[in-house]
Amino acid sequence: MADQERLSEGLTEINEGLSETSEGTAEASTRLICAGGELLEGGDGVRFEIELDGEAAPAFAIRHGGRVYGYLNRCAHIAMELDWKLGKFFDADAEYLICSTHGAVYAPESGACRGGPCRGAALVGLNMFEADGKVYMRRG
Ligand code: FES
Repeated sequence: MADQERLSEGLTEINEGLSETSEGTAEASTRLICAGGELLEGGDGVRFEIELDGEAAPAFAIRHGGRVYGYLNRCAHIAMELDWKLGKFFDADAEYLICSTHGAVYAPESGACRGGPCRGAALVGLNMFEADGKVYMRRG
């Protein structure tokens, strides 16, 4: 829980820092992640990195319910990457995101823990959107 709070605070600081340097332009405050077609419903995620506390941190994007979501690739149980094989985040039914280490499951649309050792904690969500067939992360 403390780690999640620290991560959230770190992301907020990053977003605030980026907002200050982006001079308010929409282009500067967004980052292209991938083509929308790379994210299939319940399919493989796209891995990418964000800067967190001055260091690169793994993140990923997935599609669920027709929408794109992004999260820090860090389990709320222990700070491990979730994917059981690179880009494989969904369980067998593509219903939940599942951590490969101890099996914590998370709601794809919110990152909230739905079972396993995450015990009410959640993934750290990123602000994603899709426009003109491309997936972006909003930084601020
Ligand atoms: S590290 Fe993810 S469930 Fe334990």
